[in-house]
Amino acid sequence: MTFFIETFGCQMNVYDSELVMNILLQNGYEKASAIGKADILFLNTCAIREKAVERVIHKMEQYAHYRKKGKLKIAGILGCIPQYSSERLKKELPFIDILSGPDNYDKLPQMIKESIKNKRIHEDIRLYKEQNYDNMLPYRENKFSAFVTVMRGCDNFCSYCVVPYVRGRERSRSLNEILKDINDAVSKGITEITLLGQNVNSYNWNGMTFAALLEKVSETENLKRLRFATSHPKDISYELIEVMSNNPKICKHLHLPFQAGSSEVLKRMNRGYTKEDYLGKIEKIRDSVPGIALTTDIIVGFPGETDDDFKETLEVMEISGFDNSFMFIYSERELTYAKKHYKDDVNRKIKAERQKQVIELQKRIGLEQMNGDIGTIKEVLVESVSKKRKTEMIGSTDQNRSVVFENSGKIKPGDYVKVKITDAGSVTLLGELIK
Ligand code: SAH
Ligand code: SF4
Ligand code: F3S
Repeated sequence: MTFFIETFGCQMNVYDSELVMNILLQNGYEKASAIGKADILFLNTCAIREKAVERVIHKMEQYAHYRKKGKLKIAGILGCIPQYSSERLKKELPFIDILSGPDNYDKLPQMIKESIKNKRIHEDIRLYKEQNYDNMLPYRENKFSAFVTVMRGCDNFCSYCVVPYVRGRERSRSLNEILKDINDAVSKGITEITLLGQNVNSYNWNGMTFAALLEKVSETENLKRLRFATSHPKDISYELIEVMSNNPKICKHLHLPFQAGSSEVLKRMNRGYTKEDYLGKIEKIRDSVPGIALTTDIIVGFPGETDDDFKETLEVMEISGFDNSFMFIYSERELTYAKKHYKDDVNRKIKAERQKQVIELQKRIGLEQMNGDIGTIKEVLVESVSKKRKTEMIGSTDQNRSVVFENSGKIKPGDYVKVKITDAGSVTLLGELIK
């Protein structure tokens, strides 16, 4: 039997889908080249905002005909939406065969077997605080860059966020398991690794800190670039900043979501830092790691956010100088503290207007950051052929900035090349290959 997996949501879901692929492959299932050719279809899903849930339900409705009339025998939904609301999925997608939360992927082969025997919904949404998928490796497609999860779950309970409820308690993977995973990836020709967790700075395995883990992992032979995400401003340590400034394999890019500029709003969000704390850390990071690129996440329209609060968000953006931001409109989530205790009282128009403003400001700030690279020579990891022009390639710099350049003919994805930066847009650089 063949399977097809489509992934939504964050990088941790990308990693988990690779894990599921390997679990299925090891149990004798084969990869299908397209949904129409698959016997089993899984959507690995995200519940972070209401739109993410609606998108998946809509997608599955579009695929329903494969299940009802086509070759498809099993349609399943994995990940955070089953964990968030399996009842809703059962109601809105009654033809679904399997629902599995993020801690039950090792049981999927069994669930598939049972589902073939007995046509009803097979559901497993138990959370296990020990589940780290020990002794299981993800399937690595022929690539040059890979994600490696170093911790699962989250204990921060930011008041707006559903992750602690759908992913369960925070747990760190052992050093040994992480190294096995990385060595496996590197042995397949992968040279860039991104370590993943909802809050990597609280990594703790038998007292080992995240900074120590980075140092250890960076010793891997043939590994050229080491990245990580996400950092929580309350937990980012001076030890980590130190390691970033001294270790040449660790890329000079930090994703540090600040969410909101007003300390009052941050308090209601339960983020554990003030505006001043955040700006202080940014200053320290910029001083210690020259040339570092910063990116962030922002939520606009959190309950009670006034015009003055919002102005502070714009102010933090101005001071911090982000390369790029993920800018979201607050979306009320079931189970969360904010849903229970705060009224979603910023009206839709104001939310949309604020989002428009942050997007516009980010464009200007992003362009300023990118412009700083003009005239410099960067090492670029080549990632793909440009979709717009077949003669152009796209790659990324150490700071995770995208670069577009004309191919000399011989260059292929996975190569490291030197590129002279000649021009910049707000999210991409243009350059010329240096022979
Ligand atoms: N663990 C990461 C974030 C994971 S979720 C961290 O704490 O930085 C990715 C982003 O989605 C968050 O940073 C936040 O900006 C956004 N987000 C989370 N819950 C949201 C909600 N209810 N409404 C809108 N955006 C949300
Ligand atoms: Fe959500 Fe906060 Fe955990 Fe990030 S740190 S996943 S925003 S609860
Ligand atoms: Fe979404 Fe789950 Fe990640 S809710 S952001 S896929 S942890």
